[in-house]
Amino acid sequence: MMVAGGVALAQPTYSREISRIFQAKCVQCHRPGDIAPFALTTFDLASTWAPDIKRVITEGLMPPWKPVDGHGKFVDSFALTADEKQQILDWVNAGAPQGEEADLPAPLENKADWPLGDPDKLLEMPAPFAAPRGRDLYRCFVLDPKLEDDKFLAAVDYLPGNRKSVHHIILYLDESGEAEKKDGADGSPGYDCYGGPGVALVGGSGAQNSLNSLLGFNYALGGWAPGSRTRLLPENIGIKLSKRAKIVMQIHYFTALSTEPDQTRIGLYYSKKPVEKSMYFLPMVQTRLAIPAGDPSYKAEFEFMVPILLDAQAINIFPHMHLLGRDIKTWVDLPNGGGSQPLVWINNWDFNWQGSYTYEKPVELPAFSRIKMTCTYDNSAQNPRNPSNPPKVVRWGEGTEDEMCVAFLGVTFKNENLLSLILR
Ligand code: HEC
Repeated sequence: MMVAGGVALAQPTYSREISRIFQAKCVQCHRPGDIAPFALTTFDLASTWAPDIKRVITEGLMPPWKPVDGHGKFVDSFALTADEKQQILDWVNAGAPQGEEADLPAPLENKADWPLGDPDKLLEMPAPFAAPRGRDLYRCFVLDPKLEDDKFLAAVDYLPGNRKSVHHIILYLDESGEAEKKDGADGSPGYDCYGGPGVALVGGSGAQNSLNSLLGFNYALGGWAPGSRTRLLPENIGIKLSKRAKIVMQIHYFTALSTEPDQTRIGLYYSKKPVEKSMYFLPMVQTRLAIPAGDPSYKAEFEFMVPILLDAQAINIFPHMHLLGRDIKTWVDLPNGGGSQPLVWINNWDFNWQGSYTYEKPVELPAFSRIKMTCTYDNSAQNPRNPSNPPKVVRWGEGTEDEMCVAFLGVTFKNENLLSLILR
């Protein structure tokens, strides 16, 4: 029995409460044809799965929203609130009652392919690609926006060709031309790639703390995972897309449910008003990794000080590690004893559920703030995700058996003009 505001509420029923919670937090993946192995769209389905639902919710496995509550406030979270969680557990414990059919919410509309409207530019894989059954495959495809001038983007949206096999998508930009050379070299569209675009993601170590080098390199343009939604940036902010840039689209295929070919599309939305501020992806990167074989909790640290006059605001964040990663935490220590602000914390990292998180309110990063990051890895034989048996020393790299410690921070700078001088 639930008590709210002194009023005793009746036992939750599927028709009244549970169906609404599932519509909001589960069915974007648990619907026919999408990535989850079963739908949760009817009472029969929901009650059949009730014992498993109780287990995954108790263990925090579902929904797969990763950021720890209280460490960064993000839009479009599909985490369950404590109250929703309790209602689901009460419902299962009471024998998953159906309730009155009249209480059911209207079924969800089938969302349009492009909720933001028709994209200004549609880019598509040049040919369908069928990933082989039975293993995870990471494949990069080069998309050419064929721009005549530099453009500013307000958003990029994603339309997976096969929602049953496309597990996640990450976009990188490449101005070196290297990615294009690899595309199709093995006779199929695209090329195999794992932790990045397969071309230099960041320059050699050493220079990594200079702003010039950080902002000058290839960077992530965004990411999609099932359940994520795309929004337009605020009107005065845009992401610069150089006319020289090719977009490298990395797709993680997981083919247990389907080996039908995929032909994923992305839509580019240009800024409609003159852009006052560019959003830069600041790669916070610790490449000096040497994770000893057998070490169950190796910690890597990174720190970057916001330079004088370059006061910034964080718009979004995209943390990234590989299979041994367990915990990634970023925060900012404000100058003059101003305390700390969390940026994001993921304490049960899962390479399969990575995504980009947008702040409800931009986070202030005044000059002289110290942006900090820690990445923790489990390189023991007990880690079931360890790709090496026996464990071996693991260093930075793009391969499945290498590791990364990265967070791309989408930032704008207060003194945009000054920045363009520094960056030549
Ligand atoms: C972002 C997509 C997504 C959302 C949101 C989501 N699920 Fe899942 N769910 C999956 C996928 C994919 C699987 C298959 C297992 C896996 O890949 O982890 C799954 C598996 C499950 C399983 C079976 C797990 C097992 O161990 O057998 C249950 C039960 C479940 N989900 C319940 C829920 C409930 C309840 C919600 C909402 C509160 C929810 N899921 C939200 C994608 C999602």
